[in-house]
Amino acid sequence: MAVLTDGEVQLDQPDRATIEFIKNLKAYTIATIATRVAARVQAVAEQRQAAGQPPLMTEEVAALVEPTFEWKVDRFISRQTQEMMWNRLFEAMTRKAPELLAWLEEPVPQPRGTLTLDPTLEIPAYFEVDYHIQPGGMHKEPLIPFVLATGQVVYHAGRNDRWTLKRSVAELIPEGRYERILDLGCGIGQSILPIKERFPEAEVYGIDLAAPLLKFAHKLAESEGVALHLSQQNAERTNFPDNFFDVVSSCILFHEIPDEAARNVIAEAYRILKPGGYFQIGDTMPYRYLDPYRRYSSDWQTEHNGEPYWRQAGLRDYPALLQAAGFRDIREQPTRAGLWLTSARKP
Ligand SMILES: C[S@@+](CC[C@H](N)C(=O)[O-])C[C@H]1O[C@@H](n2cnc3c(N)ncnc32)[C@H](O)[C@@H]1O
Repeated sequence: MAVLTDGEVQLDQPDRATIEFIKNLKAYTIATIATRVAARVQAVAEQRQAAGQPPLMTEEVAALVEPTFEWKVDRFISRQTQEMMWNRLFEAMTRKAPELLAWLEEPVPQPRGTLTLDPTLEIPAYFEVDYHIQPGGMHKEPLIPFVLATGQVVYHAGRNDRWTLKRSVAELIPEGRYERILDLGCGIGQSILPIKERFPEAEVYGIDLAAPLLKFAHKLAESEGVALHLSQQNAERTNFPDNFFDVVSSCILFHEIPDEAARNVIAEAYRILKPGGYFQIGDTMPYRYLDPYRRYSSDWQTEHNGEPYWRQAGLRDYPALLQAAGFRDIREQPTRAGLWLTSARKP
C-alpha cells in the first residue's frame, strides 16, 4: 500500500476525526471571534482617521483588545489548537513510525532526480528553533516531514488546502523557457513540486537545511515520477557556481531567518543567478501593508507561536535590500492566497 496519498499520510479514523475537529475549530475561530476583534480595532482606527488624528500605535491596539473576552478566547484557542495539532500528529505518526521511516530511508532503485545530503553541514544557531512550536523544529525529529505534510494544511485552516499557499508563489514565476530553476528552503516539496509542474522542461533544484524534509521531498517526487535535484545546503552560501540559474524562488523561507541571514540569502541569489535572471521572495505580508490589528496580532506569532523572526521579517524593506544587492526591476504584489511577493531581476 502507498505510504502517501496526495502527499500526505492517511490518518487512522480517530486521528483524522480529531485533526478535522482542530482544523475546523481554527477556521471557525478565525472567521468569527478574530474578525470581531479586528472589526472593533478597525472602527476605532477609522474614527481617528476621520477626526484627523494620528494612526493607532501598537500599544493602543493592545490596550483596546487585550482586556476583551474575545481576544483572550481567540488567543487561547490559537495556542491550544496548535499544541493539540502537533501532539496528535506526532502520536499518529509514531504509531506508524516503522512503516514511515522504512519508506523514507529506502533508496529509490532508479531515481529520476538526485538527493545529496551533507551530514557535516553547519546548522546555523538561528535554526535551532521549534518553529510553529513543532517539537524538534525542522530537522531534529525524523518523523517531522510526515507531521508537517498534514500539519501544514491543518495549520493554515483551509488556506493551504491542495498546497494553495505554495502554488500561489510558484504561479507568479514569469512564463518562459528556463534551463535551471532553484527553490530556496524547499522543505517537504510543497513549493518546489508546483514549480516543476509549471516548467517540466527545466532542471529544477531545491535546497534546505533540514535532511528529513529533503528525504521526504525526494521520495514524494520520485513516487510521482518527477525529477528534482535536492541538496542539503544553507541558502546563505551554496555550492552552485556563479550565473547558474535562470530563476531563484523562495516560498515562506524569509520569515524563518533573521535579518543578517536574509541579506546573505539575497546576495547569494544574486551571485548564482544568470544576468537577466529572475528572483522572487514569497512570504508574509509586510507590516506596512497591514491594518493596525493585523500588525499587532502578527506580533503574537513572534511572542507565542515559535516564529522568532516574524516581526523582523514583517518590518524588512525587501525592495531596498534587493536594490542594495544589485537587483533591478523590483516589483511587489500579493499572491492570490494572501502571501506577498517581491520580485527582481539581476541586470
Ligand atoms: C516554512 S518552510 C517552507 C518550505 C517550503 N518552501 C514550502 O513552502 O512548503 C521554510 C523552509 O526553509 C528552510 N530553511 C530555513 N532556513 C534555511 C536556510 N538558511 N537555508 C536553507 N533552508 C532553510 C526550513 O528548513 C524550511 O524547510
